[in-house]
Amino acid sequence: MNYFEEHQADFLDGLKTFLRIPSISTLTEHKPDIRRAAEFVRGELESAGLAAELIEGAGNPLVYAEWLGAPGKPTLLLYGHYAVQPPEPLEEWKSPPFEPEVRGEDIFARGSSDDKGQTYILMKAVEGLLRTSGRLPVNVRFLIEGEEETGGEHIESYVASKPARLQADAAVICDTEMFAPELPTICVGLRGIVYAELHVEGASHDLHSGVYGGAAPNPLQAAAEILTALKDRDGRIRIPGFYDRVVPPSAKERAAWARLPFDEREYTEKEMGARELVGEPDIPLFERLWARPTFEVHGIRGGFTGEGAKTVIPARAVVKISTRLVAGQLPKEAEEQIRAAVRTACPRGVSAEVKIVHSAAPSLVNPDNRFIQTAAEAMRQVFGKETVYIRSGGSIPIVGLFDECLGIPSVMMGFGLPDDNLHAPNEKFHLPNFYRGIQAVARYLEMLGA
Ligand code: BES
Ligand code: ZN
Repeated sequence: MNYFEEHQADFLDGLKTFLRIPSISTLTEHKPDIRRAAEFVRGELESAGLAAELIEGAGNPLVYAEWLGAPGKPTLLLYGHYAVQPPEPLEEWKSPPFEPEVRGEDIFARGSSDDKGQTYILMKAVEGLLRTSGRLPVNVRFLIEGEEETGGEHIESYVASKPARLQADAAVICDTEMFAPELPTICVGLRGIVYAELHVEGASHDLHSGVYGGAAPNPLQAAAEILTALKDRDGRIRIPGFYDRVVPPSAKERAAWARLPFDEREYTEKEMGARELVGEPDIPLFERLWARPTFEVHGIRGGFTGEGAKTVIPARAVVKISTRLVAGQLPKEAEEQIRAAVRTACPRGVSAEVKIVHSAAPSLVNPDNRFIQTAAEAMRQVFGKETVYIRSGGSIPIVGLFDECLGIPSVMMGFGLPDDNLHAPNEKFHLPNFYRGIQAVARYLEMLGA
């Protein structure tokens, strides 16, 4: 047994401690927990033998740590996030979200896969190498943030200021998924995002729907009209200009996607629990998920939603929406296109205002470099299967900036699984992936340093 096999119980204990901290970044009442999670990461990296500190700024603290004792060897920037999404609805969790529970081969807790478990993989791989040989085969800098799930302004301004201490040859990110269980996967593309609120206002106060119905503007109805004007029944986005810059995947990429092992029925019925798939009818599924923009409604607030009936015409409504952007699209331009489309679609009698919450650029990484190729080989060796390359529909805002500001490629070695329930109740992480992930990252660093 090697060090990494011998210490699985310790890795699991440490992960549980990390998962018990409810570091939810959207909620201000969790600021103390955010700090505790950052401190936990800093403390672990320090006891592993790195120089580690918190970088304070406008938002949640960044954790920075470095070990630069391998002159002449490559330097890697290891990225992850310690902040998590809110756990609601709580009643749907089989065990409480911040009391990690192992059931079968999975550990259940908010953040277990996204992204505490995966961030911990990077931390434990480096720790293991330092404990066994007293040194690392390459130089590493950790940058672990607490705002990824909410827009990540602090890290963005930090990376954009290009501090010398972020100088690296490549970034390594464990925050994506494997295409299927046992199938080592590298992600080479992510969608960007524009997240916004749509504020629709009618009369100055709520009105009796019998007395005023027929004359009064209804902001909820107006919101529905605006939403259906922005995306049609075939899932095609009706925001003028929205597809103009979309770059279709190459024939080679399309062909590779078509070869992925995939059962559409299982995906639909088991993984999603849905009746059928929707979306642009003439576009293949992986292209819809990875290379086409989306328009989604996340929540609608307004009017009467309590028990029984109340005959009211509400004065206002708020709709949370987002669009995912793909390679070629520009967040600032997309924001303007959304504003213009809402102006055009807004029916008379109401006002509709778009408030942008956050946005991030899409990213596409060219895999023809030794950092990605070596990662694919390290994963192949540990998992015993050829590594596949996919894109993902999710967003990791910092990836675009690593490219743009630091000029480095991101190596996205993900160890999550498609059924990990990210952002949903009963999030889990498959423990064999946790342990193999640690070994794969350690192997990767050894291969890069050889
Ligand atoms: N880890 C996810 C992104 C992800 C999920 C990538 C699955 C690949 C596969 C990340 O933590 C996330 O959820 N990001 C947010 C970012 C947004 C709030 C700016 C997302 O995609 O919604
Ligand atoms: Zn997430």
